[in-house]
This record gives sequence, C-alpha cells and structure tokens, in this order.
Amino acid sequence: MIGKLNHVGVATPSIDESVKLYRDVLGATSIGEKFSMPEQGVWVCFVNLPNSQIELIEPFGEGSPIHGFLAKNPSGGQHHICFEVEDIIAARDDMRAKGATVLGTGEPRVGAHGTPVIFVHPKNMGGVLVELMETPKGAH
Ligand code: CO
Repeated sequence: MIGKLNHVGVATPSIDESVKLYRDVLGATSIGEKFSMPEQGVWVCFVNLPNSQIELIEPFGEGSPIHGFLAKNPSGGQHHICFEVEDIIAARDDMRAKGATVLGTGEPRVGAHGTPVIFVHPKNMGGVLVELMETPKGAH
C-alpha cells in the first residue's frame, strides 16, 4: 500500500547548524529555505537528494512536539520516516482496521508539502514513527 519514501524527518536543535552539516560536510547542493509551520510547532527545511528528501525539523514555540524528542536526544536525531500513499483517508482507515494507532484526532492535517498527512504510532511500527502523506497530485 505504501508508495515512495518521500522523506526522512530529522529533528535538530538548530536547522541552521544542520544545514551546514548537510551542505558543507555531506555536500548537498539543493537545500530549501527554512519555513515555519506554527500549527505543527515546527520550523522545517528540506534537503533535496536525487531520490528523496531530508526534512529538518526544529521546535517552533513552547508547545512544540519536538521539545520532548530533543530532551531525550539533545543533539537531534532521526525522528520519522514518510511514505507516500494514494489516498490518505483510505490509508488511515486501513491502519486503524489493522489495529494501528493514528496519532491525534486521526483527521489528516496539511503537511509540509501541502498535502494531507497522518502519523502512525511507533509502538505499532517497530519503533519507528511513520508519517503517511498523500502523493501530491500531478507528481507522477
Ligand atoms: Co515529515
């Protein structure tokens, strides 16, 4: 059911510092501008790779869900992986039918790519926080 690996989410205390790592040490040549998603409590910046993206996420505001992660992983770390799906509602219902816990209300939210996303609890996913994202229309 899952399609392409869209991105790997990496939490960081500083997107600016992480950009230096990906650009200057790893040699990434295509890195987007940092932007905020206040409703999600994150700053986001995409590092574009030939076959995928790294989504750098930094806390935005006091209530950011990333603070807890950074408390456990002060220097940052791999936070989630995101797979594309054709239909987010069908994917959500399928996850629930199979006993997986969809985080939050379960209503899809608009993700960083402007398409609806859900998150599936790591306890059901082998310890990995999984984001499912509807494939942008016209992307294929
Ligand atoms: Co993501």
